[in-house]
Amino acid sequence: MPSARDPAGRGPPSPTELAPLGERLFLLNLKSYPACLGDAALELGRLLEEAAASAGVPAAIAPAAPDLGRLASELTIPVLAQHVDPFDPGARTGYVVPEAVLAAGGRGSLLNHSEHRLAPPEVAEATTRLHAIGLAVVVCAQDVDDARLLAGVHPAYLAVEPPELIGGDRSVSMARPEVISGSVAAVRSVAPATRVLCGAGVHSSEDVRRALELGSHGVLVASAVTRSSDPALALSELLSGFS
Ligand code: G3P
Repeated sequence: MPSARDPAGRGPPSPTELAPLGERLFLLNLKSYPACLGDAALELGRLLEEAAASAGVPAAIAPAAPDLGRLASELTIPVLAQHVDPFDPGARTGYVVPEAVLAAGGRGSLLNHSEHRLAPPEVAEATTRLHAIGLAVVVCAQDVDDARLLAGVHPAYLAVEPPELIGGDRSVSMARPEVISGSVAAVRSVAPATRVLCGAGVHSSEDVRRALELGSHGVLVASAVTRSSDPALALSELLSGFS
């Protein structure tokens, strides 16, 4: 796995640099769900901000790209991109470069989500570019081997999500606990300062509690909230798993 170049030659970022969003983290990915765009994205951000403050849990939100700047200007919780392209700014029509996320007030980005995969060299390049301008990186992996390989870019967070469980009603915590514990061990052996999150089907406080018991530092969630008839209640339920 190519390691993320550090243009300043500092070596991998320090642990405090690596966990700029919190030692523990609840990360809500709005994806492109119709009920999570525009004004609805901002409303969900406000609900998350309130629920996370009440629960005392660090939280962040990843809206669809067109909504990032507005949420970043309206919310106090970190707002992340769902993806960035590993390119210099310039003549790049339709791409999302790291500098655009920074200029919009974003605090970082997901990379390599199962629904938007990058080749390993692209993950390394995008991570280098995000680190170079002080943005947090949440690299997504599909299994333990993927997690071990991708930990080589020393992201702040590595989220392991078995694709077959994404959007379903069986959580990774209950259906594939060995993927979480195995990824925690694998990442720790490569990048001790990187914090493991887990996602895919997480929909209850018990799923969250189990994920933390297995060694993860938090969860990455989408449909339990984005497809809920009562997002505030869903957020409260999920965040109670951190207590
Ligand atoms: O990015 C998180 C997402 O992939 C998990 O999806 O719907 O299973 O919570 P979901």
